[in-house]
Amino acid sequence: MNKSILITGANTGLGKETARQLALKNETKKIILFCRNQAKAGAAKKDLEEQTGKKIFDIIIGDVADAQSVRKAVEKIKEPIDAVILNAGGMVGKTAGEITSSGMNNLAATNILGHVILVDELIKHGKLKKAVLSVSAEAVPGVKMLGMKPVAMKTSSEDEFAAVIDGSYFGKNFDPVQAYGYVKYAVTMWTLAMARKYPELKFVVMSPGNTGGTNAPDNLPPAMKFMLKNLMMPVVFPLIGGMVHKLEVGAKRFVDGISDDRYKSGVFYASKEGKLSGDVVDQSTFYTDLKNTTFQDNADKAIHRFIK
Ligand SMILES: NC(=O)c1ccc[n+]([C@@H]2O[C@H](COP(=O)([O-])OP(=O)(O)OC[C@H]3O[C@@H](n4cnc5c(N)ncnc54)[C@H](OP(=O)(O)O)[C@@H]3O)[C@@H](O)[C@H]2O)c1
Repeated sequence: MNKSILITGANTGLGKETARQLALKNETKKIILFCRNQAKAGAAKKDLEEQTGKKIFDIIIGDVADAQSVRKAVEKIKEPIDAVILNAGGMVGKTAGEITSSGMNNLAATNILGHVILVDELIKHGKLKKAVLSVSAEAVPGVKMLGMKPVAMKTSSEDEFAAVIDGSYFGKNFDPVQAYGYVKYAVTMWTLAMARKYPELKFVVMSPGNTGGTNAPDNLPPAMKFMLKNLMMPVVFPLIGGMVHKLEVGAKRFVDGISDDRYKSGVFYASKEGKLSGDVVDQSTFYTDLKNTTFQDNADKAIHRFIK
């Protein structure tokens, strides 16, 4: 039972809807909305209070792409938290390939850096009691029908993960759409390593599936955004079946991931092979690199090269 939950990127999209669904559970006594923008966070809090009738939302401001910002934010957390949902992220948009002060590019910093620091700091200060949910994507195992190739690292060595994280792996023509799956693979493997390191905590990885009603398409290149919004989401995906779902359905995967004992620590759950919606399954049953504990530890070590 999770009484207190922190959700990153909780002002919109999946993060905000997850906060709404969790607030409606009787057991939930406090939800921390971890957001980078005070005005957006304030508006989300007001809206969530109106929608749920609950006054249980606190705001903590922090930018997950900025190490110092996250460390300062953690200092503001006074009481231990039961569960953390590492939701902030996405394809980031035009600045995805820019190198941040950590040495990670912005895509990796946004999807990995702050989340790893947040969890490390919470554990170090005895402020994390039960569960962590990392957000990944079907982009990792790939979706053949859509021409989405699986992430295929040659060795999954520490150096190779570090190259993914600083962007050098992709050479001069950095494409965030391609790099996204690799970055999510790195954060997935880190989470699986953490599950082994901290058996007393639950570390689950969950993909929300292909979820409509979020701002994610805004960060795609314009032609892709147009195709997705006007053709794929409304026409093609519904025709194929098992390829898209509503915001409530994607967010429920996160709620179940931390609340339901059927979801086990050390497992990456996402849609069935070749699908983007429907039931979730353990991805390691067909994407076997996930089982490799050396690869998992390599991701963990590579990420920590960038954390001083
Ligand atoms: N939608 C999908 O189909 C889908 C599929 C697979 C995985 N996912 C994953 O699900 C998660 C949520 O995505 P979404 O679709 O809900 O996207 P979204 O609507 O764009 O929401 C992303 C959230 O992350 C926040 N965020 C971004 N960068 C941040 C930073 N540096 N510091 C703090 N907060 C930051 C955003 O804040 P601002 O409002 O301030 O930008 C926003 O609250 C992401 O990790 C994404 O990769 C989504």
